[in-house]
Amino acid sequence: MKSISEPKTTTVQLDIRDIHARVGGQHVLQGLSLTVEEGEFLTVLGHNGAGKSTLLRTVMGLVRAREGSLSFSGADITKLSTPQVVNSGISLVPQQRGYFENLSVGDNLDLAATDGRIDIGTIHELFPALAEREKQLVGTMSGGQRQMVALSIALLANPKLLMLDEPSVGLQPNLVERVMEVTDQINREYGITIIMVEQNIEKALRVAHRVAVVNRGRIALNKSTADVNPQEIWDLL
Ligand SMILES: Nc1ncnc2c1ncn2[C@@H]1O[C@H](COP(=O)(O)OP(=O)(O)OP(=O)(O)O)[C@@H](O)[C@H]1O
Ligand SMILES: [Mg+2]
Repeated sequence: MKSISEPKTTTVQLDIRDIHARVGGQHVLQGLSLTVEEGEFLTVLGHNGAGKSTLLRTVMGLVRAREGSLSFSGADITKLSTPQVVNSGISLVPQQRGYFENLSVGDNLDLAATDGRIDIGTIHELFPALAEREKQLVGTMSGGQRQMVALSIALLANPKLLMLDEPSVGLQPNLVERVMEVTDQINREYGITIIMVEQNIEKALRVAHRVAVVNRGRIALNKSTADVNPQEIWDLL
């Protein structure tokens, strides 16, 4: 008799439970819950000011969750400092880019390098333009080139989970495409879980496995990208 194939097992990596967070006197996250599985590529959408960056910043410990809990690979990270969160295996490419403008590309990468599979050689393979511009100050580079530096810095931490906050913003169409391709490659080849906040809905749905929409401080929609109707998303933006 033919054996029945095993169901695909999935492991929850990030478990966000009922978190509340305040920013600038506003109650931004109002009981938000979300889980992300190991190896998954999740895109997070929502209107301007919905709380997407606050969500990523709360995971990083840059904004404190007033209520609720966060766990990563089964360990409670709710009260960890940001360096401890990074050490646990989570990296963020922030909306305000995380690099030193008055240092060269090479120095920025050297400062970010850690022991692990992703090293400066890997970065040069992913972004040959950065290999050619080792000595250039990041502050003198284009928006697209800076975005590659920001992404490289986050990758050099050798994260298990990489979060990107609107990585395609302000980039010309071919660079948006390149950022999506590289993010997809990082997810597939390195098995790194991805949470990508995006405003380019069409491109985000093409590359991600699942989509979550933030609305009124909570997750208002959470579906496989294969099952979602873009109109459902538009109705929440
Ligand atoms: N520096 C700040 N000072 C005061 N309030 C802030 C500040 N940053 C964010 N907020 C408040 O937090 C809310 C959520 O902001 P957040 O940056 O998380 O939104 P977002 O979904 O990332 O928006 P965008 O798509 O514009 O990046 C905003 O509506 C705003 O009221
Ligand atoms: Mg934002």
